[in-house]
Amino acid sequence: MNIEKIREDFPLLQLKHKGKPIIYFDNAATSLKPQPVIDAVNHYYSEITANVHRGVHRMSEESSKLYEKSHKKAGQLINAKEEEIIFTKNTTESFNLLMYSLFMQGFFEKGDEILVSAMEHHSNIVPWQFLEKRVEVKLNFVELNNDYTLDMQDLEEKISGKTKLVSIMHASNTVATITPAKEIAKIAHDHNSLFALDAAQSAPHMPLDVKKINPDFLCFSAHKMLGPTGIGVFYAKKEMLEKMPPFLYGGDMIHTVKRHSSTWNRLPYKFEAGTPNIAGGIAFGAAIDYLQKLGMQNIERHEKELTKYSLEKMQEVEDIELFCPKDAEKQGAIVMFGSKNMEAHDLALALDEADNIAIRSGMHCAEPLVSKLDSEGLARASFYLYNTEKEIDLFAESLQKILSVFGK
Ligand SMILES: Cc1ncc(COP(=O)(O)O)c(C=O)c1O
Repeated sequence: MNIEKIREDFPLLQLKHKGKPIIYFDNAATSLKPQPVIDAVNHYYSEITANVHRGVHRMSEESSKLYEKSHKKAGQLINAKEEEIIFTKNTTESFNLLMYSLFMQGFFEKGDEILVSAMEHHSNIVPWQFLEKRVEVKLNFVELNNDYTLDMQDLEEKISGKTKLVSIMHASNTVATITPAKEIAKIAHDHNSLFALDAAQSAPHMPLDVKKINPDFLCFSAHKMLGPTGIGVFYAKKEMLEKMPPFLYGGDMIHTVKRHSSTWNRLPYKFEAGTPNIAGGIAFGAAIDYLQKLGMQNIERHEKELTKYSLEKMQEVEDIELFCPKDAEKQGAIVMFGSKNMEAHDLALALDEADNIAIRSGMHCAEPLVSKLDSEGLARASFYLYNTEKEIDLFAESLQKILSVFGK
C-alpha cells in the first residue's frame, strides 16, 4: 500500500492547526473519511435525495438501488448474504436489536445465563443488564489473563447448559486483545448456546468471514471503517432472522397492513422500519469499495507493522505503563497506556495543545475494566490504514517531552 498516496484522499490530513498537521490516533473512536465517501454523501443529497422503497420515479428507483447495493457490499465484506445484513444506527443499536428481539421472542427464561467478557464495551453489557432485571437471567463475565488476553480456561469453566448466549468482542477497544472468535463460536455451539460477536474493532481492520468464524450474530459500525456516522450493521444467520420478531415497527418493515394485524417485509427490510439513513447507507458502500480496493489483508499487514513499531517506541518512553498484550500478533492497532505522573485527560490535552495529536482518554465506554486498571482512566492511541511510523515517532517524542516537563 502506498500510504503517502492514500493520505492524499483524506481531506482532514491536509489541514494544519497552528502550523502543524493533525496526527490522528483516535481511530478506535471513529475513523477519518476519504473523499469518495464524502462525495457519495454529497452526490445523494445534490443529485438523488429521493426516499427508498416508496416511489416509482427515477430518483426513487436510483436511491433504492444504491441503498440495497450497499447491503450487498457489506454482505460481501463478511461473506454473508444480502438479506442477512440489516442496517442499524451503529453497533450499539445492533446489540439492542438483538436483545429486544430475543426478549420479545421469549427466548430467555429466569435462570438462563449470558456470558460476556470482562473487557466488553458498554454496548455489550448494558442491554443484557435489562434482561437481568426483566427476566432474571444471570450475566457472567469471562476474566482476562495477566497479559490482557481472554482467559479461555475461565470461559470453559463458566459456560454450561444454562448458557443461552455467549456475546464477546472480537477485538478490544481498550486493552486491544484479539479474541479467538472461531474457537469461542465452537465452544458456544457445543453447549447449545448462541454466539454474538462484537466486530466493531475488527471489521475495520482485518478480513472477516462469517462462514469461517460461524457466529450467529455479528455487529459493527460504518463510522469506524471510513464510513459516515449513523449507520451500522447487524448480521444474523438467515434462519435466525426468519424466527426473530422485528425490533421496530412502522413503515417499510411491513408487507401488508390491516387495521389490527400486519405481515412483515422480506429480509433484511423486516428489521428496517421507517425512512433509513439513506445517504449514510450509500456512502458506507463507497467506504467498503475503498477498503476492498486496498484489500483487508494489506490493511491488516500495515497495521500489524504499525502496532509492532509503536509498542517498541512506547516502551522506550519513560514513566508510562502499557495496558495491552504488548504483542502485535495478539492485539489490534491500539496501545492503551497511563502514567503515574500525569492523568490521562491531562496527557491527551497536552498532546493536542503541543503537537496537534488526537488520542482518547478516560474510561473508553468500558468502565468495568478500565476503572479497575486505573480509577482516573487511561490514555489510548489507536491507528488506522493512513497512519505512519513517522507519526508514531513524533507522538512518542511529544509524549516524552510532556512527561518530562509536566509530569510530577
Ligand atoms: C468494541 C466496541 N463495541 C461497540 C462499540 C459501540 O460502537 P458505536 O458507538 O458505533 O455504537 C464500540 C465503539 O467504540 C467498540 O469499540
